[in-house]
Amino acid sequence: MNGCMDVPTVGSMTEPRTLRSRRSCLAVPGSSPKMLEKAKGLPADQLFMDIEDAVAPLAKPEARKNIVAALNEGGYDGKVRVVRVNDWTTHWTYRDVVEVVENAGQNLDCIMLPKVQTPEQVVALDLLLTQIEKTMGFEVGRIGIEAQIENALGLTNVNAIAAASPRVETIIFGPADFMASINMKSLVVGEQPQGYDVGDAYHHILMSILMAARAYDKQAIDGPYLQIKDVDGYKRVAGRAAALGFDGKWVLHPGQVDAANEVFSPRQEDYDHAELILDAYDYYTSAEGGARGAVMLGDEMIDEASRKMALVISAKGRAAGMQRTQTFTPPEA
Ligand code: GLV
Ligand code: MG
Repeated sequence: MNGCMDVPTVGSMTEPRTLRSRRSCLAVPGSSPKMLEKAKGLPADQLFMDIEDAVAPLAKPEARKNIVAALNEGGYDGKVRVVRVNDWTTHWTYRDVVEVVENAGQNLDCIMLPKVQTPEQVVALDLLLTQIEKTMGFEVGRIGIEAQIENALGLTNVNAIAAASPRVETIIFGPADFMASINMKSLVVGEQPQGYDVGDAYHHILMSILMAARAYDKQAIDGPYLQIKDVDGYKRVAGRAAALGFDGKWVLHPGQVDAANEVFSPRQEDYDHAELILDAYDYYTSAEGGARGAVMLGDEMIDEASRKMALVISAKGRAAGMQRTQTFTPPEA
């Protein structure tokens, strides 16, 4: 189902990084071998095995071991395989990274770093990964970084965080920690705080993350929705992030996976239309098509800017494995 999007991004240490499909990012506590096993059968684009907040302090050493065993056993084909380590303000981070990457680094795609506050914290992880890769004889720079923005300092530094390392693949909004860190008057993640009735209290945060992601060719990912039985609520909140341009959202429960995949895939008619614009624009700008830059496609005028918009939809649709249902036929000469 999911594959690599055909959109190259920055990267200087190895080949340019490819943006992967991450419509649904499934969280699984590393302390639960049963859930690590169950995740194999779920159609999530990404799986992240947690050693941070979903795992109690005393269970963290065991969670590292479970995760190494699960990654090496495999069965997560087609999914982006990610491990969330503890943040740098704890004393667990280095052991999380060393134990997981030394023992299962070849079966791992990214490390997720929570509560990132400064670009230096990303650089520190990058340097540690590089040392482990060199020591173990792994390809240097292959393992990516996913940076979670979860407090005010992280948000004010989000552009520098996105630019801190070519390993960074995603910038993720962590709403629960974020709401706590700014003293927002609400306990319900994703819902508006009571008493605020003049707009969307999350708009600035989401847009800042999205701008940083787009400025540096990263993916923007929305965090969890905790009312796991309320799939309509999930779709509503996910739909807002998708409408702004986010690439995906966390899922905490199997019931949220299909909703995420649906919300973050283009609609069939939009995908068809995007592919049509790309073919038509290719044809009309060619010598055979008259080498024209602005032309009519049906009732619509298309030009280079239309092609750029179509590329985005088409890349998302292709990454989601969608099939087009219309083809472009050049007009009779
Ligand atoms: C996720 O980590 C969150 O804090 O929302
Ligand atoms: Mg968090």
